[in-house]
Amino acid sequence: MKTIFALSVLILMASLDTIGQKTLREATKGEFLFGVAVNMKQVNGVNPIETELITKEFSAIVPENIMKPQPIHPEENKYKWDDADKFVAFGEKNNLTVTGHCLIWHSQIGKWFFVDENGKDVSPEILKERMRQHINAVVSRYKGRIKGWDVVNEAFEDNGTYRKSKFYQILGKDFIKYAFQFAHEADPNAELYYNDYNVETPAKCDAIVQLVKELKADGCRIDAVGSQAHMHMNSPTLDATETSFKKLKTAGIHILITEWDISILPSPYDGANVSANFDYSREMDPYREGVPEAVQQQWNKRMLDMFGLFLKYSDVIDRVTVWGLTDNGTWLNNFPIRGRKDYPVLFDRNNQRKSVVDGMIKMAENYKSKK
Ligand code: XIL
Repeated sequence: MKTIFALSVLILMASLDTIGQKTLREATKGEFLFGVAVNMKQVNGVNPIETELITKEFSAIVPENIMKPQPIHPEENKYKWDDADKFVAFGEKNNLTVTGHCLIWHSQIGKWFFVDENGKDVSPEILKERMRQHINAVVSRYKGRIKGWDVVNEAFEDNGTYRKSKFYQILGKDFIKYAFQFAHEADPNAELYYNDYNVETPAKCDAIVQLVKELKADGCRIDAVGSQAHMHMNSPTLDATETSFKKLKTAGIHILITEWDISILPSPYDGANVSANFDYSREMDPYREGVPEAVQQQWNKRMLDMFGLFLKYSDVIDRVTVWGLTDNGTWLNNFPIRGRKDYPVLFDRNNQRKSVVDGMIKMAENYKSKK
């Protein structure tokens, strides 16, 4: 009896040890790439622990900000390549699959892009030509080194209508098609994606499916739809998320989970339009001193439920990327309310793996062993 007990303890310890040693990168291998959004401090190794976590735990990276139109192309004919060059080299050196984010977006883009020297909106021809130059310069610089690009980001409202961005106002919906054509011309081998938030909202998901069909009918290359997956404790529901996956899958579309995080805080807003901003109040920032155990358990469950769903659809989900490495650096500490303390990602403020990571690893291992 004693021997059996001792043996089981040994086996348990050994299996815990294996889980402890396994990385997310290893556990998800064969199912999907497992990525993280990174910043330049991490690329530059300012905190070597963070950099090591990125290279060990993940198989893919995406730049959180540095390749967006504003930072990379702040003025007409002026590009800032230094950071992007370092970022791509960092990915290559560490054997991480690199995604580019993002070519055409209404946010984080210089105002110059849309106006002439008198501050008036440019003509459709000029805007189209500026798009071509921008996309061509950025995509061809990294030709063959970037697996795929978020070509257009957030072109729809949640109700499925086109967002009335400057691109849309000046060029109509064709701006999307042009962007995909220009990106394909610049690097014919790069994968091309359409990316948006709240893809779980039925009207928005339908609009995206329709867009993909139209792009394909126009002969454009599009490899997948990116679902940002900035989530909250109660929304989107697991059902709504699965329904969106089913719709995309049925339409023959591959999926990327591109910016996954689950905010543990109350939210005045469930979109991810980065210009949204609400006033701070202490009630909206309840976990400054730490997260109560019961709430933590709810968050863990929600993370695991979603991760389980990603595994279930791993035949069409090619990558899952978490939007940020640690709770310390998450954008949600300042969005949509500045100065809060959120806990939405996989590593805590001391760069420690959260317990949910072990759960995810176990789940992935289990899933693979049953296939
Ligand atoms: C966010 C970054 O995380 C922040 O650092 C920045 O201040 C604003 O943008 N959708 C996107 C991402 O596609 O690029 C956004 O990233 C989050 C919402």
